[in-house]
Amino acid sequence: MFKVRETFIPFCIPDVSEREVDAVAGAIRSGWWAKGPLTVEFEKRFAQYVGAKHAIAVNSCTAALHLALLSQGIGPGDEVITSPLTFASTASTIVHTGATPVFADIDERTGCIDPEQIERRITKRTRAVVPVHYSGVACDLDAVRALCRAHGLFLSEDAAHAVETRYHGEPIGCHPMGAASFSFYATKNLATGEGGMLVTDDDGIAERAGVLSCHGMSRNAWKRYGKGGSFRYDVTEFGYKYNMFDLQAALGLTQLERMPQMQAARMQAVEVYERAFAPCEALVLQQTPENTVHSRHLYVLRIRPEALTIDRDRFVAELAERNVGTSVHFLPVHLMSAYRARFGFAPGDFPRAERFSDTEISLPMYSRLSVEDAAYVAEAVLDIVQKFKR
Ligand SMILES: Cc1ncc(COP(=O)(O)O)c(C=O)c1O
Repeated sequence: MFKVRETFIPFCIPDVSEREVDAVAGAIRSGWWAKGPLTVEFEKRFAQYVGAKHAIAVNSCTAALHLALLSQGIGPGDEVITSPLTFASTASTIVHTGATPVFADIDERTGCIDPEQIERRITKRTRAVVPVHYSGVACDLDAVRALCRAHGLFLSEDAAHAVETRYHGEPIGCHPMGAASFSFYATKNLATGEGGMLVTDDDGIAERAGVLSCHGMSRNAWKRYGKGGSFRYDVTEFGYKYNMFDLQAALGLTQLERMPQMQAARMQAVEVYERAFAPCEALVLQQTPENTVHSRHLYVLRIRPEALTIDRDRFVAELAERNVGTSVHFLPVHLMSAYRARFGFAPGDFPRAERFSDTEISLPMYSRLSVEDAAYVAEAVLDIVQKFKR
């Protein structure tokens, strides 16, 4: 008999140890709060961690995605292909360049963009593809890279969920064909509150993105205010204020060191979920292709509507009644009112993404989720299935 616990299990909480607290306190006491030595060190370490030549630390993944497209001069008249099953900023950064977002439907087994659907949408105007490594599963990069090579398209990977994702044994961001953008938002596997990183092997992209991330200035504050710095600078481009600063980098450096331990804790919770849900016919588990190690940024569970008398929204409400917090990833971008109004999208345009979204529940998944709490969440899910099965 299932018993509802008294305390709420949130969808996500950051993993803060005394080491993060000490690192930030040290950064505050250092007297250098802007972009400085810690940010430069974090860039170096993150580049080494993923195996890329350059890493440019920015204040969000959104900023990184925007810079990646800007580095190619993508703008009005261009088309950029991406997934409808993503967060708003994957598409809005395309719109901000002046280009048109073109959606390509997903592979329902993983939630990632389907390369065949990309191919169908390539036109003379297509300049870039922005695939999302949805929830931490690598998209079919071999196929996406082949398409980009064949059609001369820029590849900007949305790696917001992909810290710790591996593809053919290598980290996402390892020698990317174009660029990859990571998120360090508070809920991410590696969190700095807000923050992001653009990685690339291309010297030109790194140089341009670095300049654009700091007002288009030829020298940033670190170079101007340090010993031997000069007050002179030039503005070579119309840039943005997108850089990371040292208090964020203090968190990032510490989290990076703690990654193995934090990731191991996530995997323990995943095991509990997978064991509990695999035999249940009313649930659909996300598939991880053999060539991929899933970062488990999100634990994605889908319900099989025909097996239940309730829909996803009611399922989420039932979980909340059992003191379990959840989320949904994602409400399809093309159905947001701004996208419908400007680009004329309507329900039914991307049926796989819509079906996936309508049946998806993201369960609590974070390194501080104990095995006992994960077991409770699993029991709560199975209790609901039992109660409402057809
Ligand atoms: C797939 C995806 N892309 C981009 C972003 C944007 O990340 P940020 O909040 O760091 O700008 C997110 C945020 O969660 C995301 O889920």
